[in-house]
Amino acid sequence: MGRLLVGVLASGRGSNLQAIIERSLAGKIDVEVAVVVSDVEDAQALERARSAGIPAVHIPPGRFRTKLTPEAEQRYVEVLDEHGVEVVVLAGFMRILHDDFLTRYAGRVVNVHPALLPSFPGLHGQRQALEYGVKWTGATVHFVDAGVDTGPVILQAVVPVMDGDTEETLSARILEQEHRIYPEALQLIAEGRLRVDGRLVTSAGGTDGATKGDAGATGGDGS
Ligand code: GAR
Repeated sequence: MGRLLVGVLASGRGSNLQAIIERSLAGKIDVEVAVVVSDVEDAQALERARSAGIPAVHIPPGRFRTKLTPEAEQRYVEVLDEHGVEVVVLAGFMRILHDDFLTRYAGRVVNVHPALLPSFPGLHGQRQALEYGVKWTGATVHFVDAGVDTGPVILQAVVPVMDGDTEETLSARILEQEHRIYPEALQLIAEGRLRVDGRLVTSAGGTDGATKGDAGATGGDGS
């Protein structure tokens, strides 16, 4: 079986990209990052790609604040296609994609979000969780649909909110889990194990118990 070719879209730091690259280079996942594309010219993610010898492309987003212009989006598609991308991986990509893009890659766009969806979608998932006062939050990897953080859930990991947490400390605890479950979700896709039925994603053979039962690994569920 060949390796799954993914294109990563990232706007910033790129730590999730780095986690995927490292697992990929170590041969731990059957995934190859074929290209990294950013809407931000000096994004650290582009640097990380270059350091790993992966093509890194900056495509300006155009004049909109939260979306890509149709022309920019077309350019994204061209670059992803040039590199034979099978699955588009959003890793801290802060632009909303249009229906045309999602139709082009139907069922083949994934995202990581720093909260347990459907709680706290959109920006600053960690801050929203702190402000709400939840005791548990986490990370979600999901397929992307036309809504904001509304697509079918692939994997989630649970993270406790500790007394005295700041946005920074909580984000760091969540990020650790993002770095673990994102490569794991990509591996499930690479192995062709995921089935999507409406909102429900199941994996042949079941998802890794360590991920689903993560509450135990990160401090217990109090029972
Ligand atoms: C991650 O925490 C990711 O979940 C979040 O941005 C961060 C990117 O970090 N994404 C969103 O909030 C999307 N709604 P990274 O650039 O170091 O991977």
